[in-house]
This record gives sequence, structure tokens and C-alpha cells, in this order.
Amino acid sequence: MALIVGNWKMNGLGDSVAEIAAMAAARSDLWVAPPFTLIDRAVIVAAGAVRIGGQDCHAKVSGAHTGCVSAAMLADLGASFVIVGHSERRTDNGETDADVRAKAIAARAAGLQVILCIGETEGQRDAGEAEAIVAAQLAGSLPDSADGLIIAYEPVWAIGTGRTPTPGDVAAIHGFIRTRLVERFGPAGQGLRILYGGSVKPDNAALLLGQPNVGGALVGGASLTAASLAAIAAAAAG
Ligand code: PGA
Repeated sequence: MALIVGNWKMNGLGDSVAEIAAMAAARSDLWVAPPFTLIDRAVIVAAGAVRIGGQDCHAKVSGAHTGCVSAAMLADLGASFVIVGHSERRTDNGETDADVRAKAIAARAAGLQVILCIGETEGQRDAGEAEAIVAAQLAGSLPDSADGLIIAYEPVWAIGTGRTPTPGDVAAIHGFIRTRLVERFGPAGQGLRILYGGSVKPDNAALLLGQPNVGGALVGGASLTAASLAAIAAAAAG
């Protein structure tokens, strides 16, 4: 079954947890990463039916890092996963592959599942460098164990733009990522889930998620309401 993960980014106030309560009633395999401020309330209304996660974590367990949140703190709130390496973090906060790897290791140490994001920019794709970029991101940011790991391929140019790669391009790069994961982790790499992210909507989910080596979606804009996220899950389920 496809895994559908919502990334709310910097959206949502207290009223929004009603959407998570509605997702919990939808009976699909939905995970949601609300902003930090809503995690504890989201965990309560999700009542175990929707998994709640963070959008980022610090690589250290605790210490003098004003404004930061550790993986242990997320776990303490009842979060069960965390997104690391989202392109908005890489761009806005200058996070490197080494930073992403350190965060992934910290998250696993705290018992969180990790959704590790990779993806090329438009310029890199146009230059024919998409595979090289993705390979370099994997080489630099993967932790040493595949345990608890999920990969999200998100071409930067498809995020929030309404544009998506063709189904053939999605199949090609997901196949490429699979090969790299098997090289890195052996048979465990074969079993890792690879999500596609970038402008996934109810009307394109079936096509994009129907491609080989696509095990679900990481959804931004279309994840803010239960109706939209459940419609994506329903489309993916066929
Ligand atoms: P989008 O965002 O669905 O709004 O394109 C996806 C993401 O950034 O995870």
C-alpha cells in the first residue's frame, strides 16, 4: 500500500488539528508532519490512526542551540518520524549532505523513522545532471544503516509549482535511486520505500505513484486538508 505523507511546512494554527482528526477517520495509511507547535496536539487527535512527525531536527540531543529542536524532543512529544534534508532546509538554512546525515543518525538514535529528501534543481536537470546530483546527495547524506529509513525524491523545480516530471522520468530516476540503495545497503536497499514528492495532487497521484519503485508520496500544499490528502491516498490505492 502506498504511504502518503503530508508536510505542512510553516502552515497551521490550533484550529488545523481538526484536519488531523478528520484524517484519522479516513482509514488510509497517512502520516503528517505539522509544524513543531502543533505536534503534541496533533498526536492527541491522531489517536494512533495517523502517524505524526517533525519536519526537521537538530543533530545533537541537547545543548546550547537556541531555537532548535532535537530528535529526542520530537520523540518525547509522541512523534514517530522526522523529515530531514528537505530542499527548503537545504536552501533556506544552508544544510549540507553532512548535516542531513548527522540529523538522520540522530533521529534513528531517538527511535524516529527518517524520511530523507533528495532532488535536483531545474538547472541541474536541464544540464543533464539530475542523476549525478541525486547520487552525490545519497552518497553524502545516507546513514550507514538502512534501518528505519525512507527516501523521498523531490525535484526542487516540482515543489509547489504545479509541475511534475513525466511518469517516465519518475520511473527512470526512482530506478536509478533503487540501484544506488542496493549498492549501498545490499538486499536491505531493495526493500526501502522511495516516495515521490513535488506537486502531487489527487488528479495526478495515480499516475505518478503507479510507476515502478514509487512507494508513496510526500505532499506539501495538497496535504493541508483531510479531504485532499485522503483523496490522494484513495487515488493511489486505485
Ligand atoms: P508540494 O510540496 O506538494 O506543495 O509541491 C512537496 C514538498 O515540498 O514536500
